[in-house]
Amino acid sequence: MDLFEYQARDVFEKHGVPVLAGAVATTAEEARAAAERVGATSGGVTVVKAQVKTGGRGKAGGVKVAKSPEEAEQHARAILGMDIKGHTVHRVMIAQGAQIDEEYYFSILLDRANRAYLAMCSKEGGMDIEQLAVERPEALARVPVDPNVGIDDAKAREIVERAGFDGETARRIEPVLRTLWGVYREEDATLVEVNPLVKTADGDIVALDGKVSLDANAFFRHPEHESLEDTTETDPLEMAAKEKDLNYVKLDGSVGIIGNGAGLVMSTLDVVAYAGEEFGGQKPANFLDIGGGASAEVMADGLHIILSDPQVKSVFVNVFGGITACDAVANGIVGALDALGDEEDRPLVVRLDGNNVDEGRRILAERNHPRVIIEETMDGAARRAAELASTN
Ligand SMILES: Nc1ncnc2c1ncn2[C@@H]1O[C@H](COP(=O)(O)OP(=O)(O)OP(=O)(O)O)[C@@H](O)[C@H]1O
Ligand SMILES: [Mg+2]
Repeated sequence: MDLFEYQARDVFEKHGVPVLAGAVATTAEEARAAAERVGATSGGVTVVKAQVKTGGRGKAGGVKVAKSPEEAEQHARAILGMDIKGHTVHRVMIAQGAQIDEEYYFSILLDRANRAYLAMCSKEGGMDIEQLAVERPEALARVPVDPNVGIDDAKAREIVERAGFDGETARRIEPVLRTLWGVYREEDATLVEVNPLVKTADGDIVALDGKVSLDANAFFRHPEHESLEDTTETDPLEMAAKEKDLNYVKLDGSVGIIGNGAGLVMSTLDVVAYAGEEFGGQKPANFLDIGGGASAEVMADGLHIILSDPQVKSVFVNVFGGITACDAVANGIVGALDALGDEEDRPLVVRLDGNNVDEGRRILAERNHPRVIIEETMDGAARRAAELASTN
């Protein structure tokens, strides 16, 4: 899960990373009030910053210096509602204005290929770090970090030296890198990036921007992370699915998909998209993996979610019974159809195979529901579901 900059700022502050005062606002009036407070210690100068989870905000006009609260209000009015790379700006952060002497770059990320973490650091931070990495990779130090050791004093020194810092500046940056490591480790982050990390006119090192991604697999260790989640742009069906602990992703097509196992569901999406070409470009409406040991109840929950999507014209249930026996799946389908009643008239193409398939098929045959079509093969079922979606 990616954080907004203002959330990253708060997390940084909690761990002792030097940051400037900042406050979030959702209206121009709020921005003005925030600028009055935040700018009080910086001669009234603030920076109004679009809060969107994408890079390049500055270049898109989403970061503007304001010399007064009135100006902050005007900037906020212009920035709120702006579209930055497909993200609508709903919030701005009013940050205290800094007197920047130099801009640096620092990040820690997960280096999966090397089973380690990687720290990156450069004296040339700011808005064009991606370009720098491509054009002059030697200006970006890349230092592996042993997960069992992390960034201790020696590692911090190594990173700073490799990036070409020396003297007083190096000494000042080192402890900041250690606190940023503290954020990375203690918050279970997969990315902590500061661009720019600045040296102010007073010689202080401050994190002026922050990008933090948290590892959702570690959320059980961090109940407080739940409040950081932004649900304003989450699809309502995805939210409903999450409440039921279902692995559901909304897509744009017309064929609802339920399967067990992420691999099987992914290939089901492919097969449906391929078959759908023949029928006017029918596409999968969603990804839904009901998992290994899915019960009848999970099956029913999944069907409910999928059928709440008005774009869905047909449903393809593709289950290979392993731990989930096919009879449980069949019972789930029957139970869900009964609960949905007669108003539900969209067809359900079912392909069952594997553990207890005969019993599963028998249950479906016995129920003999008019909207349930049993197909023997995955390709045949995909074709049928796509066809039904095109005519329904
Ligand atoms: N509080 C501040 N005071 C003074 N200048 C700032 C402040 N915050 C940002 N800036 C200036 O604006 C530039 C862009 O800001 P920032 O890094 O936050 O946005 P960005 O880099 O465009 O966004 P992203 O990192 O998402 O691409 C910085 O490099 C810095 O020069
Ligand atoms: Mg930046």
